[in-house]
Amino acid sequence: MKRILVTGGLGYIGSHSVVELQQSGYEVVIVDNLSNSRADVVDNIQAVTSVRPAFEKVDCTDLDAMEGVFKKYAGIEAIIHFAASKAVGESVQKPLLYYRNNIVSLLNLLELMPRFGVKGLVFSSSCTVYGEPDVLPVTEDAPIKPATSPYGNTKQINEEIIRDFVKAQDGVNAILLRYFNPIGAHPTALLGELPNGVPQNLVPYITQTAIGIREQLSVFGDDYDTPDGSCIRDYINVVDLAKAHVIAIDRILNDKQKERVEVFNIGTGRGLSVLELVDMFQKATGVKLNYKITGRRAGDIEKVWADPRKANEELGWKAETSVEDTLLSAWKWQLKLREKGIQ
Ligand code: UD1
Repeated sequence: MKRILVTGGLGYIGSHSVVELQQSGYEVVIVDNLSNSRADVVDNIQAVTSVRPAFEKVDCTDLDAMEGVFKKYAGIEAIIHFAASKAVGESVQKPLLYYRNNIVSLLNLLELMPRFGVKGLVFSSSCTVYGEPDVLPVTEDAPIKPATSPYGNTKQINEEIIRDFVKAQDGVNAILLRYFNPIGAHPTALLGELPNGVPQNLVPYITQTAIGIREQLSVFGDDYDTPDGSCIRDYINVVDLAKAHVIAIDRILNDKQKERVEVFNIGTGRGLSVLELVDMFQKATGVKLNYKITGRRAGDIEKVWADPRKANEELGWKAETSVEDTLLSAWKWQLKLREKGIQ
């Protein structure tokens, strides 16, 4: 069985990807510092897959501890690197935290890869690297715009570090997956997003409002240059997104890459406005949502959605789950959290 290291494997996208990897026959070792996740996610992964992944509570910025992980679990063949801080607003307040966490973690992994014979890295990148795109849908060739937050900058810098390192290091290859907006939860409602405190992202805010944890959803702006005036994003189902990681790992391990560093947009190709998404949530769940239009949020992009054709054609990956089913899965997850008394 091929052994894969998943950093941040107890987090939102990480945990769904661990499930898909295990269900595809990979053996997974999770490293997570629990800074934005809970240790009982391991139990929930086991409940879904009947396999308990190995888990080490280690911070990726700790080089010695990471070396210990590679020694303990000999023969790791590839890494999926999710572990990172990801709140745009917080990154503006605490830039050093973001640069340290997100950059040192990657440097440590890259340093250890050749020493332990690790062939490949799949990196969690983001559509944030495109900034406000000039052409929509956005393709992988679109120019990288100056980052508008330290968080976004760490994604850009990390992509560059990976390119430079692969150039210098024979035998190490990489795939950069640029995610659009991941939403939803596992259909079993055993895994999903666990926001820390007040959610910053739209869908957790919607489900928390719908269940009564939050009074009212603020729709940030209706005066954008879009059909209904609210911002447009490409909302991608988290399980569909997780499956792209398994394909990327297969591709690296089976030497199918066309270039040693490949980059793919992972999105649906469909742009939806905030108001459209709110409407779809209400129709799909039958729950009425209390919302109001407020002012714009600083730093928001007006509209961005993916051209996912490269991933469709070269990876044979496609977003499959409808937005309605995805919103329903997010709602089922929120109901399950209440049942468990978590949120
Ligand atoms: C941003 C980043 C993304 C990053 C993610 C992590 C961009 C284009 N995207 O996503 O790279 O990984 O944060 O958190 O920079 N909204 C409301 N009310 C709310 C919350 C959100 O109206 O209470 C709106 C936002 O204005 C936006 C949309 O919903 O138009 C989606 O927002 P959010 O879920 O926060 O994601 P992004 O900002 O797109």
